[in-house]
Amino acid sequence: MSMEFDQLLPKIINDNTLHARWLNTLSLMENTGARKISACEDPETVTYIILKHAAEEHRHAFYLKKQIEKTGAACPTYSSDYLLAPASSRHYLNQLDVDVCRYLKNELGLKGKELRFAAYLLVTYAIEVRADELYPVYQEALDKALSKINVKSIILEEEGHLEEMINQLKTFSPDWQLHADKAVEMESRLFHQWISQLATALN
Ligand SMILES: [Fe+2]
Ligand SMILES: [Fe+2]
Repeated sequence: MSMEFDQLLPKIINDNTLHARWLNTLSLMENTGARKISACEDPETVTYIILKHAAEEHRHAFYLKKQIEKTGAACPTYSSDYLLAPASSRHYLNQLDVDVCRYLKNELGLKGKELRFAAYLLVTYAIEVRADELYPVYQEALDKALSKINVKSIILEEEGHLEEMINQLKTFSPDWQLHADKAVEMESRLFHQWISQLATALN
């Protein structure tokens, strides 16, 4: 995924305070994602799959928060003191949403409900692609360090999410892959920004 990221992980895992803040930062991002999904729900037409997805993302936020106990350090809230690279971590998802909405407005002329739903599909797709890379790399680093913390239950659910997003995207547009690739491109730029802010914070 990124050399830089691979090098950051052992550094984080070997330091309980950093590790607690890392878990809390991931928890914040999962919670932001969960709240975004909930915010996109149409009160009338929301489906089983969207409810399931929102519930699982909320669970990820909670589960990561719970893992913090095993570090012995405390991160009671999402205030910046308890996060790694707080500005960039908060910015990542919000900016991705802004970028994707701009693309959908300009390229597809979407607005209102349709725009909201299409943005949910593309933003979530890009995040799921990232989650499917990030959590296994993190789990591998945890295994190597013989850590008591594990994210295997998250990995399982994230794999399901990517499939679900692809199924939903297929019904959204025959050109879904083209739009999805654009979203992934936007996400990559923001992800690398986030990693470089993390690296700076750890130095
Ligand atoms: Fe998640
Ligand atoms: Fe997910």
